[in-house]
Amino acid sequence: MNWNRIVVKLGGSILLIVLIILLPLGFVTQQIFSGFYYSKVQDQLMDLSKRYAESISSVDNTQILQMFETLATMTDKEIVIVDSKGKVLANSGLPSFENGRKVTMKPLLLKEEENVPRYEYEDPLLDESFLYIGRPIFDEEDQFIGSIYVFSSIGPITQSLEVIKNLLILAGVGSILLASGLIYFVSKRLSRPLLDMVSVTRGMAKGELHSRVGITTGDEIGALGRSINDLAIELESYRTNRKEFFASVSHELRTPLAYVDGYARVLKEGIYETEEEKERYLSIIEQEAARMTKLVNDLFELSKMEEGHFHLLLEEVDLIEVVESTLEKTQLKAKEKGLRVSFDSVISIPTIYADGLRIEQVLINLVENAIRYTEEGSIVIRLLSEDSYVAIEIEDTGIGIPESEIPFLFDRFYRVEKSRSRKYGGTGLGLSIVKHLVSLQNGSIDVQSKVGKGTKVTLRFPIYMEESS
Ligand SMILES: Nc1ncnc2c1ncn2[C@@H]1O[C@H](COP(=O)(O)OP(=O)(O)OP(=O)(O)O)[C@@H](O)[C@H]1O
Ligand SMILES: [Mg+2]
Repeated sequence: MNWNRIVVKLGGSILLIVLIILLPLGFVTQQIFSGFYYSKVQDQLMDLSKRYAESISSVDNTQILQMFETLATMTDKEIVIVDSKGKVLANSGLPSFENGRKVTMKPLLLKEEENVPRYEYEDPLLDESFLYIGRPIFDEEDQFIGSIYVFSSIGPITQSLEVIKNLLILAGVGSILLASGLIYFVSKRLSRPLLDMVSVTRGMAKGELHSRVGITTGDEIGALGRSINDLAIELESYRTNRKEFFASVSHELRTPLAYVDGYARVLKEGIYETEEEKERYLSIIEQEAARMTKLVNDLFELSKMEEGHFHLLLEEVDLIEVVESTLEKTQLKAKEKGLRVSFDSVISIPTIYADGLRIEQVLINLVENAIRYTEEGSIVIRLLSEDSYVAIEIEDTGIGIPESEIPFLFDRFYRVEKSRSRKYGGTGLGLSIVKHLVSLQNGSIDVQSKVGKGTKVTLRFPIYMEESS
């Protein structure tokens, strides 16, 4: 038996409480009842003995004594009358007080009326206990001539007390049994779902993330079960993501590594014919190495953002300056492809509260995408001021993106048409980083595109207001 189980702890505590309450309660009840009975009998004895003592004025008249004896047999009390020396003169039915025997019991003195102690007498012949009160008898001249003792058996009292005691024990045992049954039922209800959770979480620790806790209750235990289920779902998706992530990373690294490895071997073994060929191979190796460096840097940045260890230097940002700097940095790439990047500038645009360098990083990413996925035509950047937002649009006349693919653009490593990726040289991390950077700066990003016509990416950032800072 496991003494550490809830059912044992809870049950033990409740039983202990029941016992702690029942035992003193039983004892006190017993005391109250017995006190009540004894004082009632004693009152009767006091009253009766007084009346008897007062109505006797002579102890010589045997007729009168016999009358008292008969009177006593009609009640449930016994009387014994003794003379001034203590010799028994009359006895209503206690065999040990036979006539003529000397009695040593002392009658009450008058001043003892208050706070009379409990006088008890055990009859050796009847084997029975009695309460008694003795009173002195005086004649007409106030001379002490004898005493009268009135006895009341305490047999009925002890019997009644016994009955009460038995009733109390019965009630105690009954309530303990009832409490035990109830505790067992409640504890089972409490511990069953907990044991279920233990087995599910142990399974989770071993990697069985598909099992779930079966919950029916809406209480705290139910809430715990639901959190465990949520945790299992979260872990499961984390595990799937991690698998996909490693598969993607190794896939992304394998191709450039194969290129580097292949061309390095060609160069080492001198399997080339002209110097130009050699130069071409060397520049491929250089490009692939640069591609891997970018991949690793991008991954590092993404993981920092996802873990929340990413610090932004927030300040008032003038977007016109940022767009102009972006244009400068992307000019060369656009020129190489014979594309024109233009900026629809306005004289003034409200400032935003953001990290200027990170906004520039976002814009460079988007403009580079526009250049990379546009063969001919132009790219336009627009700055617009809407109610409480500033919008930045980057529009191209490129190959476009099918509508069904748009929701996935921001996923890590996601590229439209994997086969064309090498031709364009992307790794599919750019937009994922963009999305994180934009939302870290309270912005939003929206993509509209038509295949063969072009793509428009719109960024929105809240306008900076003095009092909002
Ligand atoms: N302006 C665009 N026109 C057409 N397709 C685009 C455009 N921008 C993005 N895409 C598509 O979305 C995919 C994801 O873009 P993302 O910027 O995340 O990756 P990438 O450009 O391939 O690689 P990276 O930016 O990491 O070098 C791209 O592979 C491309 O297929
Ligand atoms: Mg990109």
